[in-house]
Amino acid sequence: MDRTFVMVKPDGVARGLIGKIVTRFEEKGFTIAAAKLMQLNQLEAERHYDHLRAKAFFGELVAFITSGPVFAMIVEGKDAVKNARALIGATNPLEAALGTIRGDYAMDVASNIVHGSDNDENAEREIGMYFR
Ligand code: RTP
Ligand code: MG
Repeated sequence: MDRTFVMVKPDGVARGLIGKIVTRFEEKGFTIAAAKLMQLNQLEAERHYDHLRAKAFFGELVAFITSGPVFAMIVEGKDAVKNARALIGATNPLEAALGTIRGDYAMDVASNIVHGSDNDENAEREIGMYFR
């Protein structure tokens, strides 16, 4: 079965949306294979967002993702990476369709509620980082 890494970000956890987000994945047809509440440290956050190191917002991004607990999940299902990202919606909630998680629960690109791996290689890399 295909799998991907999904994480409710600190804003989603602080707003009490873990349950709703888990439900959205379950209702779509995914299975939650593993899950845990955890806090990313500076090094983990920098590795997680390594592809954005050159961006002006990198420091803010790392500060945000380490600002509180996240809810990390391994989710399984057909074409898991693509189906999860379709359910999550566009990076900027302004462009995310209503009916997607970001479209329904977020308003700002900097606090967009949930992360989903962007390809199979990164899904395995992120699962390896957080579920050892
Ligand atoms: P994610 O990794 O969190 O699932 O988001 P994504 O693939 O849709 O987007 P990505 O390019 O990987 O960006 C990671 C996170 O960086 C923040 N971001 N801020 N201020 C900005 O213009 C900007 N652009 C990206 C977002 O929170 C995005 O989720
Ligand atoms: Mg990404």
